[in-house]
Amino acid sequence: MRCRNLSEYSGYSAKLFARDTCEVEIWSMFDNEYSACIKLLSDAYLAYSLSELKQALAFLKVFKSIKTTHFLQEEMIMLDLKYEGYSEHRAEHVNFTSDLSRYIIMAERLDTSIGDLLSYVTSWVNGHIFVYDQRLDRHLNGCHANLVVSS
Ligand SMILES: [Fe+2]
Repeated sequence: MRCRNLSEYSGYSAKLFARDTCEVEIWSMFDNEYSACIKLLSDAYLAYSLSELKQALAFLKVFKSIKTTHFLQEEMIMLDLKYEGYSEHRAEHVNFTSDLSRYIIMAERLDTSIGDLLSYVTSWVNGHIFVYDQRLDRHLNGCHANLVVSS
C-alpha cells in the first residue's frame, strides 16, 4: 500500500496504522521532511554567517513552505485518529506559521534581524518536536499497538 499524498490519509488512517509498511512510509515521509527542514535551517545559518542575507531568507521561505505542508499532514492524521491533543497542537502550528510569515516580512524590511529570526525558528522547532510531536508520536504508537492486538 502506498500513502504518499494527503487524500490517501483521509478516512482510513486506522487501517493505515495497522499496516507496518504504510506506517513506515508515513514516518519515513515525516523523517524526510524533518531532515529537509533541518538542512534548510542549517543552510540559512550558513548563508547568514556569510552575510548572504537574501539567500538566508530564501532558505527560510522554502522551510516555511515545507513546514506548512507537513503541518497539514500531521493535522489530517490527528483528526482522523480523533487525537485529543489536536486543538492545542494545531494552534501551535497556526501560531508559528503566522509568526514566521510576519517575521520574514519584518526581516525583508530590516525591521528585525535574520539572526533573531533564525534563533526564533530554531527554538520553536526544537520545542515543538520534543513536546508536541513526541506526544503525538506516543499516541500513534499506542493506536498502532491497539490495532495490532485487536486485529
Ligand atoms: Fe506538529
